[in-house]
Amino acid sequence: MIPVVFLTILCLGMASSTPSPDPILDADWQKWKIKYGKTYNLEEEGRKKAVWEENMKMIKLHNGENGLGKNGFTMEMNEFGDMTGEEFRNTMINFQVPTLKKEKNVQKRLAGDVPNFINWKKRGYVTTVRKQSDCNACWAISVAGAIEGQMFRKTGKLIPLSVQNLVDCSRSHGNEGCYRGNTYLAFEYVKDNGGLESEATYPYEDKEGPCRYSPDNSTANIRGVMLVPQSENALMYAVATIGPISIAIDARHNSFQFYKRGIYYEPYCSSRNISHSMLVVGYGFEGEESEGRKYWLVKNSMGIKWGIRGYVKIARDHGNHCGIATYGMYPLV
Ligand SMILES: *[C@@H]1O[C@H](CO)[C@@H](O)[C@H](O)[C@H]1NC(C)=O
Ligand SMILES: *[C@@H]1O[C@H](CO)[C@@H](O)[C@H](O)[C@H]1NC(C)=O
Repeated sequence: MIPVVFLTILCLGMASSTPSPDPILDADWQKWKIKYGKTYNLEEEGRKKAVWEENMKMIKLHNGENGLGKNGFTMEMNEFGDMTGEEFRNTMINFQVPTLKKEKNVQKRLAGDVPNFINWKKRGYVTTVRKQSDCNACWAISVAGAIEGQMFRKTGKLIPLSVQNLVDCSRSHGNEGCYRGNTYLAFEYVKDNGGLESEATYPYEDKEGPCRYSPDNSTANIRGVMLVPQSENALMYAVATIGPISIAIDARHNSFQFYKRGIYYEPYCSSRNISHSMLVVGYGFEGEESEGRKYWLVKNSMGIKWGIRGYVKIARDHGNHCGIATYGMYPLV
């Protein structure tokens, strides 16, 4: 019996500091603004540029002279370059909701004979990477992804499901739209609602609106939600035998904001202070397994320009790194 405490997920906020602008970086700054279509008023420009420069320095420091990065992964300047670490942390306040104890909803098996590599994306279980942008909908995107995978398993059809439907309508179950949400409550909403629309009939708007769910347009349904016991072995077993699993991690760190490639390992990561939901779509290892370069393959919701075309590899079997196994869940379809 595992008591599970659920949190509401705020997804990603971003970054602060006030360094003195460096004119040498000016050309790069102009290029970066064009690349990401950023425009600021005069007042903003100075502060944004200062933040960007700080981030640039931090990224260069992390990647080092050889550009190989520290702790097994590299970082890169990306579209989040004008956001500070403080902004990021300030908006990632976790909200705890009551402890739920539902023994029957906890996956029984903790381990089994499973393959060394799994990639559900290659087997057609995973839709394209989404972008949450101005709406903190990571929890809804994670839940939609887990249901998409199980629907594919059942029907052989991969249909992108409506994140907007979850954002607008799971308020009924205590979620808070574009502000924050809880994956468990979102699954419960789908179950109680008796359906979920597809992206095609209820597209993403990147802002909250009134609930416009129509049963006639329902595309997916679930019978319930299962909790994965809080261990990496149990998560591995779930990923291997079920499919993509909804998870959440501590993503407060600059290293995550600017992650590019390699196996993400953040020395200051917490396995309890969880803030960002994503979807585990597989696992594997790089090089010799005995060297401990094992990873979880995780689909993020920050667009395809972030990380490995929208994905991140997170250190596996490193003591529940960043809480990857703390909130594993999947729907019963
Ligand atoms: C948890 O994260 C929040 C920001 O998301 C931070 O303010 C708080 O200090 C963190 N708590 C711990 C125990 O690390
Ligand atoms: C189903 O979705 C389509 C596309 O959004 C919409 O035009 C139609 O009114 C919906 N059907 C019902 C019964 O709400």
